[in-house]
Amino acid sequence: MQIKHSRGSYEIRFRDFDEAMAELPPGCLIVTDDHVLELWGHRFPLGSRVHSLPPGEASKSLSEYQILIEWMIQREARRGTMLAVIGGGVVGDLAGFAAATYMRGIPLVQIPTTLLAQVDASVGGKVGIDLPEGKNLLGCFYQPLRVEICAETMGTLPLRHFKNGMAEVVKYGVILDPALLGRLSEEELTPDHPDLREIIRECVRLKADVVAEDEFETTGKRAILNFGHTVGHALETVTGYGPILHGEAVCVGMRVEAKIAELIGHGAAGTLATVEEALSRQGLPASTPELGRTDELLAVMRRDKKATGSGYAFALPVRAGECKLVTDVPESAVKEALQTS
Ligand SMILES: NC(=O)c1ccc[n+]([C@@H]2O[C@H](COP(=O)([O-])OP(=O)(O)OC[C@H]3O[C@@H](n4cnc5c(N)ncnc54)[C@H](O)[C@@H]3O)[C@@H](O)[C@H]2O)c1
Ligand SMILES: [Zn+2]
Repeated sequence: MQIKHSRGSYEIRFRDFDEAMAELPPGCLIVTDDHVLELWGHRFPLGSRVHSLPPGEASKSLSEYQILIEWMIQREARRGTMLAVIGGGVVGDLAGFAAATYMRGIPLVQIPTTLLAQVDASVGGKVGIDLPEGKNLLGCFYQPLRVEICAETMGTLPLRHFKNGMAEVVKYGVILDPALLGRLSEEELTPDHPDLREIIRECVRLKADVVAEDEFETTGKRAILNFGHTVGHALETVTGYGPILHGEAVCVGMRVEAKIAELIGHGAAGTLATVEEALSRQGLPASTPELGRTDELLAVMRRDKKATGSGYAFALPVRAGECKLVTDVPESAVKEALQTS
């Protein structure tokens, strides 16, 4: 699949892990995390130089960024040195940001190994790190040289992380694809489902189309990918990045934001029920006690990148398969949705 962007294009390839490894140049720098290294490291190319991070969202930090940059300096990385990232969205975002900023940019290959990173994080060129004040607060747009999606890596992914990725799959259904949403409402998708590869490919295509229309998130089109994320990111921020996984936070966020849409009379009646049905069918969390931390959540959401000053900003579903950015949502509706979800 070819992805066009302002400075050219790159390919997303769907193939075996060993094929993807065979194409990495000798001595290539690889960034991964300790879980992925343990499970897949024996298949990394011989002679590659590997930096492994502690697994988990807490590694998407300024301190791990600095450690990685220093490692790259010690390995004498140059402008043309390739950095391959093998892992989930955490290493993808962090090492992608390092590749984007080291010597103003070195070639990057993304090899995502979680469902969430395959259907979402590795596509679209957003890279960055979290700060204590907010998630992804430091980052940029940086397109990779290519993305290698190896569905076989799903074979070792723990179920909780598979479900975590399913939250983003449901999101695509809600915002763009009523047929996908309908299917997800009827049948639970499992890691060994025969259609999983096809669904991953469909999600990548949906995201790539949106990103192609609005690469730098300036027209509002790309903002629809943020459905569930304003509340989701706030939940991740107030809990200190880690206890609630990104997809789990987004799942609760989608329920709250669909409720906000209903409360302000945005979109077709019954949309909230449709969203909830698909999430429940996929065995995703219904709520979290952390929603009770209303004031903290509101404070984080006021700093959201989409917020304009006249109110809270959310990408809200209009109906199944359609979503719109709304920038003047009153605080009373946000509060009520948090308190009743
Ligand atoms: N850049 C973007 O556009 C974008 C989009 C969505 C999410 N994200 C970011 O992605 C991050 C979440 O990514 P994630 O859910 O992949 O988390 P993650 O990178 O922490 O990976 C989840 C866990 O799975 C393990 N793992 C990875 N691959 C495995 C495999 N094949 N087998 C066994 N274990 C494996 C990891 O070690 C980790 O413990 C968040 O920081 C989020 O903000 C970015
Ligand atoms: Zn997400």
